[in-house]
Amino acid sequence: MQPIRTVSIIGTGSYVPEKVLTNQDLEHVVETSDEWIYSRTGMRERHIAADDQAASDLGVEAAKKALADAGIGAEEIDLIIVATLSPDMFFPSTACFVQDKIGAKNAFCYDLGAACSGFLYALDAAKNQIASGAIETALVIGSEKMSTFIDWEDRGTCILFGDGAGAAVLRAGGEGRGIMDAVMGSDGSLADLLWTPGGGSRNPMTHEMLDQKQQYLKMEGRDVFKHAVVRMGDAVLEALEKNGISADDVNCFIPHQANVRIIDAISKRLGVADRMYCNVEKYANTSSAALAIALDEAVKDGTITKGDLVVLTVFGGGFTWGANVLEWGK
Ligand code: UT7
Repeated sequence: MQPIRTVSIIGTGSYVPEKVLTNQDLEHVVETSDEWIYSRTGMRERHIAADDQAASDLGVEAAKKALADAGIGAEEIDLIIVATLSPDMFFPSTACFVQDKIGAKNAFCYDLGAACSGFLYALDAAKNQIASGAIETALVIGSEKMSTFIDWEDRGTCILFGDGAGAAVLRAGGEGRGIMDAVMGSDGSLADLLWTPGGGSRNPMTHEMLDQKQQYLKMEGRDVFKHAVVRMGDAVLEALEKNGISADDVNCFIPHQANVRIIDAISKRLGVADRMYCNVEKYANTSSAALAIALDEAVKDGTITKGDLVVLTVFGGGFTWGANVLEWGK
């Protein structure tokens, strides 16, 4: 399906909290080592939000930078989507809190739940709203305070995640092809390999549930790893084909930042190691924020420049996955 109107990203921004938690720090939290974490994941450190910072606060910081980068005012935004699995509250949406804090009084707002795939899903949803002519300008945010939902006694998961947020401003028009078609998929039959089973309507917030630590993220790491490699690799190939682009033409691939070994495996399969972007060393896995932060960094550090073809790909709980292609017009 070709979009009716071109949709471009006209600004990006990202934010990570001040506090840094290194692998050495984690050696005092659980039985682990810098050597194990770095060799198995490529991570060196992650950022952890302050007690008084919620997902909306992180998102607001990223959003302000994205708006400044785009050179537009908050009142020009028609739609705010926040992708998050660590919302401020069950309701109202984190997007509504962001709206209030940045003064985007003309926007309608909602959260999108696709776990680590959320930012790409939200980009696609916003792009389609703009392409159809329904709206002109959207703010898409991936924001996570993962540290709240992590069991800090489980070394299999607590070393993997960090807090942070990234944002992009989308608008109709722009040079080049802008955001092209996405390929997305889900497999709910594998939900229990990566989930937070407690706290919702299935397993409500009771003392018993809390004692069983069901409010924390659970993951079968090896299974998730294998699916992530296959699904992201397949999605990239499918997205390239759908948009009539060859991997050789792509200037930069930005995958979900969950593990450098996952990224390396995809690079090898696609033969694109020289163009694969990775910043997992600095931030660990920030779930839906990871792609957004990496995109912002790749633009700001000059990896992505005007006219470049960029491929984004994600994988997360659900399972959910996807890939899209964009031509950088800024
Ligand atoms: O964002 C959503 C997507 N998430 C992901 O994509 C994560 C995917 N999974 C992974 O990245 C990897 O599976 C992990 C990094 C989570 C784990 O790496 P692995 O190479 O799959 O290790 P493993 O789970 O097979 O564990 C190997 C060993 C085990 O010990 P035994 O059974 O061999 O004696 C673990 O108990 O490493 C042990 N281990 C640790 N040792 C030191 C597990 N966690 C740790 C730790 N420090 N933090």
